[in-house]
Parts: sequence; C-alpha cells; structure tokens
Amino acid sequence: MNTAMNFDAEAFKTATRSQWDKAAPGWNAHTPQIRSWLRQATDAMLDMAGVTSGAQVLDLAAGAGDQTLNIAARIGPAGRVLATDLSAGILDFAEVNAARAGYHNVDVRVADGESLPVDAASFDAVVCRLGLMFFPNPLRGLQEIYRVLKPGGGVCTVVFSNPAANPCIGILLSTAFKHAGLPPRDPYAPGGLLSLGEPGLIDELFREAGFKGVATTKLAAPFRLPSAKAYLDFVRASASPIQQILSKLDASAAEAAWMEMEERLSAYTNSDGWEGPNELLLTAGRR
Ligand SMILES: C[S@@+](CC[C@H](N)C(=O)[O-])C[C@H]1O[C@@H](n2cnc3c(N)ncnc32)[C@H](O)[C@@H]1O
Repeated sequence: MNTAMNFDAEAFKTATRSQWDKAAPGWNAHTPQIRSWLRQATDAMLDMAGVTSGAQVLDLAAGAGDQTLNIAARIGPAGRVLATDLSAGILDFAEVNAARAGYHNVDVRVADGESLPVDAASFDAVVCRLGLMFFPNPLRGLQEIYRVLKPGGGVCTVVFSNPAANPCIGILLSTAFKHAGLPPRDPYAPGGLLSLGEPGLIDELFREAGFKGVATTKLAAPFRLPSAKAYLDFVRASASPIQQILSKLDASAAEAAWMEMEERLSAYTNSDGWEGPNELLLTAGRR
C-alpha cells in the first residue's frame, strides 16, 4: 500500500489550490464534454451513495459543480447540497452555475476535504467525483467523510483505476515528465491522478476509515471526442496536474511537450473521431 507521506502535504495543497484556480475557467468551459463523459458514472455514484429526495448531501471537491446540479435536481427543494472545494476560483463557477440553473438548494463553501468545517453527523450522503485521488492523505479525507455522515448515511467516491486501463493519462504524464526533465513517477504515489488506482487500495482505506458494506464497482468511461486535438484542447485548458508538471518550462519547450502528446494520443483515432479508454472505480460504503 503506497500512502506514505514523504512530501510536504501543505505545500502540495497550496500548489493544487493555485493550479485549480488557474484551470477553473477551462474546466468550466468544458462542462458539456465532461458531463457527457461522466454521465453514467455520475448517475451510478448518486445511486450508490443513496442520494434521494429530501436528502442533505455533501459534494466534496465539487469543482465547477457539474455533479452538484444533478444532486440538486435529485434531492429537490426539500433537500440541500453543500458543494465544497479547495479552490475558491473553481467553486465560484459552481455557485454561478447553480444560480443560473435556478437551484435554491445549493450552498458552497471553500474547504480542504481533509479538514471539513462542518459539524459531525450532519449529512445523509457524501459524494466525491474525481477528487479524492488529489488528496495527499486520502485516508484523512475518508475519516472526515465518516465524521460528517449521519449513522447509516452513504458515501460514494469516483477515482481513476490502474494505469493500464487509463492509457491516455499515462501518455500525458510520461510525456510531461520527460519534457520537464523529471524521472518517471510512481503512478500510485499520493496526490497523483492515478494514486488510488492500485488494486484493493481504496477499499482498504474505506474500511480503515470505519465504513461498513464497502464495495467497488469498475466502470468503463471512454472519452469520445471529434479528434485527439479536441482531447488535448481539454487537457491544455483544464487538466491542472499536467499543467503543473509543465509549469517550469518556457513556452516553446512546453509547446513541444503538447505536440508530442497529441501525436501519441492520435493512436486512439477511430472512424467516428477519437476515443480514449478510461476506467473508473466507484467505491461505496456506509457509516
Ligand atoms: C478533476 S476536478 C473534479 C471536479 C468535479 N468534482 C467534477 O467531477 O467535475 C478535481 C477537484 O478536486 C479539488 N481538490 C483537490 N484537492 C482537494 C482537497 N484537498 N480538498 C478539496 N478539494 C480538492 C480541486 O480543487 C478540483 O476542483
């Protein structure tokens, strides 16, 4: 199990916050593509956490709030969803998007998922879509979820599975590390895109945090776009971890890295456009 903390977690979070503040407009602008990519996973996540009419729900690492809108629709006016995120910049979009969509049952609060400013036992359900793998200490995040859930309440997290099942992420990371002059990194090192994909790890962490009835479902979530360039446009605009690796390069050196990524990603071009395989782990448990 690779959860050892051999780096400065607070410095890592400061960098994460600043990168997501920067990536926020790009992530928000790609909401239609993200929504269709993660539609099935989002519905399954809400089912597995037990998000139903009238529920009090915590949406952790909510980003620009795409899944927050699904939650708001499901719980209806008698329910309430609190969307939280480390980055104020991205959470501003969640607030605006919820208001524009006419939901009055959404609150937002900037918060580190490893230290939640909310009372114990205050939510019926907690969800976290593509967020937990960025926590330097995911066990602490899960212990916080356990604390804020009411007894019997449910949680579901969505993270990427192993590197072999997510080859485009492997291409992005390996190309970025090479161009940045950095050695390849253990894909399961804490805080990385694939850090919770090690088989069995997330179930173990859920159980260690105290959850009962822990179960993980694998879900194929291919990213379908018109071209490899469209995928790279998404990554360039919104994929903060890749931008973070390339951030020390000058413009022309970074451009060379992006070009090589696009070339390698073209391998996934097909007769309908482009399809990048992804596999997600949906893990549920209850307090
Ligand atoms: C890939 S985005 C996912 C956003 C949203 N859940 C979605 O699926 O569209 C990852 C989010 O995790 C947030 N995040 C990373 N580390 C966090 C932490 N320690 N606490 C809370 N949020 C965190 C980032 O700020 C970012 O908004």
